[in-house]
Amino acid sequence: MSDLILVPGATGGVGQLVVSKLLEKGLSVRILTRDAAKAEKMFDQKVEIAVGDIRQPKTLPPAMSNTTSIICCTGTTAFPSERWEFDPQPNIFEWGQALFNPQLIESKAKNTPLIVDYQAIKNLVESAPKNLQRFVFVSSCGVGRKNQFPFNILNSFGVLDAKEKGEAAIINSGIPYTIIRPGRLIDGPFTSYDLATLLKTTTGGKLAVVLGKGDKINGDASRIDVAAACVESLFYPQIENQIFELVNQGTRPDKIDWQHLFSQISNS
Ligand SMILES: NC(=O)c1ccc[n+]([C@@H]2O[C@H](COP(=O)([O-])OP(=O)(O)OC[C@H]3O[C@@H](n4cnc5c(N)ncnc54)[C@H](OP(=O)(O)O)[C@@H]3O)[C@@H](O)[C@H]2O)c1
Repeated sequence: MSDLILVPGATGGVGQLVVSKLLEKGLSVRILTRDAAKAEKMFDQKVEIAVGDIRQPKTLPPAMSNTTSIICCTGTTAFPSERWEFDPQPNIFEWGQALFNPQLIESKAKNTPLIVDYQAIKNLVESAPKNLQRFVFVSSCGVGRKNQFPFNILNSFGVLDAKEKGEAAIINSGIPYTIIRPGRLIDGPFTSYDLATLLKTTTGGKLAVVLGKGDKINGDASRIDVAAACVESLFYPQIENQIFELVNQGTRPDKIDWQHLFSQISNS
């Protein structure tokens, strides 16, 4: 069976770059999206499109058929936004309570971190083919130090709690995995609702890639390098069942040596 890589979250910032990198490598790509029209426009018939919602397990089997690896780039915002899909909209009194009583706001939303980054990841894992070669998951720096600044602020609405549970669902499934925890995402496509997006913060392609273990490093991470790490990891058996952080720091070499970076992680 030839390789077929499924990309849930392909219409997002990292997801679009993952698709482009996979195509550059000559791999067959199937994307999972809730919005076929948007995806058709975006990918110009270069990928197979499966329509599904990771919150709804019944929509997932068509996307999984013959899939050999998954690179999961789904996510929602860490703080309440329209991406949380409020129904009904909270009233002014409830918004006023948001930081003291996050559950009140969450109970009115359908696409929160707990749902997208944990429950829906569990759905993906449970629907995945039994012989899946790799599940690559984009998680986040800070999962291992949720109580330290600035991650305690980032986790105000539970995004790091949810990512941690999502990671655990993947690890406990027995499926070979690679979990990548980027720092704050910069470089386009700018799809988030945060300061880096507002300011269009970029590395200018000048910063090196630094990988870490044990959730100790800090910094911004280029979406371009996060996407490259997701795709490259498929080609390196030594990075199977590894969790690592990724940030950009220092002077960029002419070529990123993924073999060297991954062996540092697998040997540490
Ligand atoms: N922003 C940061 O600083 C930061 C830092 C560390 C880690 N991360 C993580 O990095 C990853 C990529 O971030 P990004 O900014 O590139 O993401 P993004 O642009 O916000 O894209 C999110 C993707 O998830 C999809 N999605 C959301 N809910 C879904 C659902 N219920 N069913 C199916 N698909 C769904 C969206 O599809 P639609 O087009 O249908 O909405 C979109 O393609 C995310 O996991 C994020 O948590 C972000």
